[in-house]
Amino acid sequence: MKKMMNRLIPAILAAILVLVSATTGAAAHHGTYKEPKTGILLVTFGTSDPGAQAAFDNIDRKVKAAWPDIPVYWAYTSRIIRHKLAKQEKHLDSPAMALARMADEQFTHVAVQSLHTIAGSEYHDLTKMVGGFKSMGVFNRIILGYPLLATQTDMEKTVDALLGMIPGERDKQEAVVFMGHGTHHPANAFYPALMFQAQQQDPLVFIGGVEGYPEIGEIRSWLKEKQVKTAWLIPFMSVAGDHAKNDMAGDEADSWKSILSGAGIECHTVMKGTAEVDAFVNIWLSHLEEVLHHFD
Ligand code: CO
Repeated sequence: MKKMMNRLIPAILAAILVLVSATTGAAAHHGTYKEPKTGILLVTFGTSDPGAQAAFDNIDRKVKAAWPDIPVYWAYTSRIIRHKLAKQEKHLDSPAMALARMADEQFTHVAVQSLHTIAGSEYHDLTKMVGGFKSMGVFNRIILGYPLLATQTDMEKTVDALLGMIPGERDKQEAVVFMGHGTHHPANAFYPALMFQAQQQDPLVFIGGVEGYPEIGEIRSWLKEKQVKTAWLIPFMSVAGDHAKNDMAGDEADSWKSILSGAGIECHTVMKGTAEVDAFVNIWLSHLEEVLHHFD
């Protein structure tokens, strides 16, 4: 028996070798082995405002400058904006379309970077989408990077960046009101948390939401309580698009400017998106860097 095994072992080993080389040979022939190829996918809600597009162009330039060898793709989560742009012959992908395209183009490692402000409902939809592609196994690695506000360090850097956006002409007695988007999602708590930390440095800085606490009615009563006569209104959104133009600085009766002016507070507006400001862009880039670090 032992003698027979001694003769059999080399035969078994040879058979295994033949099988292994046959499978790898076949795999190579059918192209299942992929050369490592890393790509970046930047995901934002999107904008159809040509002026606001400058903010995204700024991020695009910064990402390409930081990782010149890695191809950069963009996806817009807003279907309405994508359809509006398609009518002007500008074709933007959804995250699913962009990831399918990257799979087809043989990317093996994909860094998906959210350009959202908080991990709200759009970010969670993106988490599901990335999870779907992960379970399909089309990429070796696919990782989603945090939005602007995730860690305490992000909060501190964001407070500094917000304070840095305040125009030099603003007097210390004047209030500064940042307009965030706001959401019904539990992550809305990031806005009042950020306001609390900003007020440790400047008690007349307020951060509200178009669609979440604190809303403009609350902010107006706080400004009255502190006998504020003048307020600076600044968007706290990646682009100074529709919300900034209409809901913040518009002349309609329900704009923040009209509501505060109606309460006897003189308003100045600043039209700039956070994606235009390097101090914010650097926070998103730091999250992208963390993701790419996992691919090393
Ligand atoms: Co909105």
